[in-house]
Amino acid sequence: MPTAEPVTLEQFIADLDALQQQASDAFAAATDAEQLDKARVEFLGAKKGKLKLIQKSMGAVPNEGKRDAGQKLNAVKQAIQQGFDSANERLGAGGGGDAKRDKTFDSTLPGKRFRIGKLHPITQTINELKDIMGRLGFTPADGPEIEDDWHNFEALNIPKVHPARDPLDNFYLSVASKTGANDSVPELNVDSPLLMRSQTSTVQIRVMENRQPPVRIVSLGRVYRPDTADWSHYPMFHQIEGLMVDQKVTLADLKTVIKLFATSYLGNDVPVRIRPSFFPFTEPSVEADYYWDGKWVEFGGAGMVDPNVLRHVGYDPDKVSGFAFGLGIERLCMIRHQITDIRYLFTNDVRFLRQF
Ligand code: PHE
Repeated sequence: MPTAEPVTLEQFIADLDALQQQASDAFAAATDAEQLDKARVEFLGAKKGKLKLIQKSMGAVPNEGKRDAGQKLNAVKQAIQQGFDSANERLGAGGGGDAKRDKTFDSTLPGKRFRIGKLHPITQTINELKDIMGRLGFTPADGPEIEDDWHNFEALNIPKVHPARDPLDNFYLSVASKTGANDSVPELNVDSPLLMRSQTSTVQIRVMENRQPPVRIVSLGRVYRPDTADWSHYPMFHQIEGLMVDQKVTLADLKTVIKLFATSYLGNDVPVRIRPSFFPFTEPSVEADYYWDGKWVEFGGAGMVDPNVLRHVGYDPDKVSGFAFGLGIERLCMIRHQITDIRYLFTNDVRFLRQF
């Protein structure tokens, strides 16, 4: 084994002091990033740096001096590193000590733009409508998109013979029988079919079946109708539906809520009117319009909940009354944002969606 020359503690400390001075001079003398980096390698280089060499000689310091030697070494190491850091800063290099890298940085190049994701315009509209109805005291309620005959038709006063049940106007589902094993062909159960809900009025029934009045809810969700897609139709769209049932709810309450709801979304100066209409589940029924761009535009359907419907969910029509209204969300969103074709909303082209 090669035996190293013994080094006294004093000698070791003197060497370190000298090195610190040298390094400090070299860093101070550096006038550009390249010179500074050279000096860094010379003094702080991990393999052949001068500090590393002195560190190796520490093994030759007598044992009783080792502790002091170690402390001194650390202090000098830190001082040299600090000397480098401040020189680096002085030269404006930065970049974790890699002074060279800075040369390739062109601060005149355009930066990378951060794109923040956004909610779909329909989701934004839903959130806004939900907020408006929330301020009027209506709590959100939800229901399934696959519905049964009772909730989509029967309970809503749409009997078996009613034209609203026409298969051309509804997405009926064929359901494989649970009993027939392999050979079971999906079948349409004509007496009690399942279907994709054609209106959110189904949620009225589900809520009233499970709750006693007073009821004040709003439901927002998808509905399905086999319409051919064109600029204003799509086989899936969204509806918002409000329902209020309590003692002595009147048509005047309905008018007030419709007006507040419409003007909150469209603007306070937008005229709203109500005219007679027909729906199986409301009596009387009305249609609401608002005046926009020089003409009356259909807002949605509404009316006083038909006594038959109240009876179907176990309410007493002599004790409570209520109103309901429902409307398409896409149309509102399109009017507000001047969207000319409903299909844009569902083709998921980010160039379109990014605008909202
Ligand atoms: N469900 C009706 C429709 O889809 C709208 C409506 C809801 C009408 C509630 C009256 C009461 O057109």
